[in-house]
Amino acid sequence: MILDKSTIVGVIGAGTMGTGIAQIASTYGHTVILYDISNEQLNQSKKALSKILERQVEKNRMTQNEIDGIMERIRFTSELSDCADCGFIIEAVVEDLSVKKELFQKLENLVSEDCILSSNTSSLSIASISSAFESPERFLGVHFFNPAPLMKLVEIIPGISTSNNVSQTVKELMDSWQKVTVLAKDTPGFIVNRVARPFYGEALRLYEEGIADAATIDWAMKELGGFKMGPFELMDLIGHDVNYKVTESVFKDFYYDPRFKPSFVQKRMVEAGRLGKKSGIGFYDYREGVKNPEPVTDRKLGDKIFNRILAMLINEAADAVFMNIATAKEVDLAMVYGVNYPKGLLKWADEIGLSFILDAMSALQIEYREDRYRPNPLLKKNVRNGDLFHG
Ligand code: NAI
Repeated sequence: MILDKSTIVGVIGAGTMGTGIAQIASTYGHTVILYDISNEQLNQSKKALSKILERQVEKNRMTQNEIDGIMERIRFTSELSDCADCGFIIEAVVEDLSVKKELFQKLENLVSEDCILSSNTSSLSIASISSAFESPERFLGVHFFNPAPLMKLVEIIPGISTSNNVSQTVKELMDSWQKVTVLAKDTPGFIVNRVARPFYGEALRLYEEGIADAATIDWAMKELGGFKMGPFELMDLIGHDVNYKVTESVFKDFYYDPRFKPSFVQKRMVEAGRLGKKSGIGFYDYREGVKNPEPVTDRKLGDKIFNRILAMLINEAADAVFMNIATAKEVDLAMVYGVNYPKGLLKWADEIGLSFILDAMSALQIEYREDRYRPNPLLKKNVRNGDLFHG
């Protein structure tokens, strides 16, 4: 089974992710069928893509010829039957299990037997979508990050029934699209959306406890931690409705493990319609003329904030390895290329010293007596044996 440039790629859903994925596939020479039920959405997608590509010409990153080629290779359609000749399909429609299942049932009857089908879902299990298939061995998760053409990471998630051959073939195709791939188990949040939870969750907890305000926590994570954005800026950008929903679904899917408990502060923001940048106000006020509070740039406080959030992130990264979701190398790659972390979390732990992180977790656990702060067994074992995550 080979997927190469001659493979016609079907992208289902012409929203944010579908448009970006279609751009990538076309850039690498594939004919792309970009399908959506909404003609209006297809027009919007075409316009948005042209605008993005024209900017590349203005910046001398691409020639007019190249971008004409990219646009010509994409066929925007509202007829699902146009996908009949596709050799590889990526679904990126609304995050709704019944919509996705119905689509795959139709697609499976339409395409040839050797077509590989995949979903870009962030929060549904691959197993649950695969139940729609007669041949689930040809279906898997292929999870891109937003914006798909810029973020290098793709998580490849085989389901319980996916054949090894299919995962390998898709990995090779993603390699040919210059993506960094990691193989993840079909568990809630896969790698990135699981390991990144404390970046938001622990920041919100610090805020709720009144240890610092949003600006100060953001300052600590950027200035002392080297993160490109602080957690509150990032949540405001993602939108609290979206971020809260992911947190809530990860929490439920982990059978209410307190490590993933959502925050009341964020829930209230959603209820009040303070969704972040898109609604003009979130933790920060984006309305014209409004001046936001300055951070308290106290180094001692900053270290306390940064160390606590980093320890929680590393503990979570260790858990992903401990539970065989992915290897230490893959977890680190995922966080660097999926969410632009300044360093792989486990490499960071090796550098800082694992006992420093374990001490930070143990101190939190003793202080709060909450299961949320339990140190991961692999972290404990490595400290005991003097081992590193990257041996
Ligand atoms: P979006 O809302 O921008 O686009 C969804 C598109 O699906 C819309 O154009 C809509 O018209 C279309 N659609 C709805 N029902 C359809 C159907 N039955 N047939 C064909 N098209 C249909 O959504 P977005 O953000 O692009 O997300 C799509 C998928 O990608 C979701 O599964 C989401 O979880 C996942 N994802 C989203 C990321 C993000 O940051 N937005 C990141 C990674 C994955």
